[in-house]
Amino acid sequence: MKVISTEKSQILAARIATALNTTMVDVKFSRFPDGELYLATGKLEEETVIVGSITDSDALVQLLLLIDACEGSQNHLVLPYMGYARQDKRFRDGEPISARAIAGLFGKGIVDCVTVNIHEPSVLSYFSVPTTNISLAGDIGACIGSMGLTDPLILAPDDGALAFAKGVASAGGWDCDHLEKTRLSGVEVKMAPKKLCAASRPVVIVDDIISTGGTIATAASMLYQQGATDVYAICVHGVLIGGAYTHLKAGGVRDVFCSDTIERGCSRFSAAKCIAAVLTG
Ligand code: R5P
Repeated sequence: MKVISTEKSQILAARIATALNTTMVDVKFSRFPDGELYLATGKLEEETVIVGSITDSDALVQLLLLIDACEGSQNHLVLPYMGYARQDKRFRDGEPISARAIAGLFGKGIVDCVTVNIHEPSVLSYFSVPTTNISLAGDIGACIGSMGLTDPLILAPDDGALAFAKGVASAGGWDCDHLEKTRLSGVEVKMAPKKLCAASRPVVIVDDIISTGGTIATAASMLYQQGATDVYAICVHGVLIGGAYTHLKAGGVRDVFCSDTIERGCSRFSAAKCIAAVLTG
């Protein structure tokens, strides 16, 4: 078994290869003069792990090309970050179910698939091959444990993310709650933990995705008003669009951590071992 990767998932793919005690297949990436993507793989083995996060349209096309190029091998697909999974239903007439459209692209040429903290688990039913979704809640818990915080409060940004936050908090037996939004007026909104108090303690906000950083930046400034000593942000997928990282830091967030499902400067823990564990059964 060897590991092969799209351009944007090379580091995670190499870590998966190490965890599997194997090596990577070399790939040449380039473009045709009209901008179309081109790639060519090195020599393939009988079994291949194809790794590619869907971070944008080019990453998606590159992944489809890679699967096609690996024809003839038994291929396991790893989608560390599945973009488009947030449009998991038709919210308004005329909209696509984007998650279904994207999942439907993966079937031919692969035998199974691994996803990581997919935004909405019901999306798994849109895959036509057996798909396993893993959670990095334990790895985030270990990351928080290594920060040496005293009595941290683990906070989910909303009640939908509470189960994930509880999984993180159980790693250290820490308190856990979710933020609740209260509308004070037409323009004023208050965000505070639903049951617990943030005063005089560090708070770690955990989420599956940080996209614009807006949710956490707003929450951080309110948590400081409520007496939190330090606010940290940790997520699985650091989408971090535009000035998200700056926005978080400007909002007083002490540090921002994400995994390597999307490779960022603040990728401080890896999904590789969990992924390798699924691949080896
Ligand atoms: C949404 O449901 C996700 O779990 C995240 O909470 C969301 O994507 C965060 O978005 P932003 O960083 O733009 O506030």
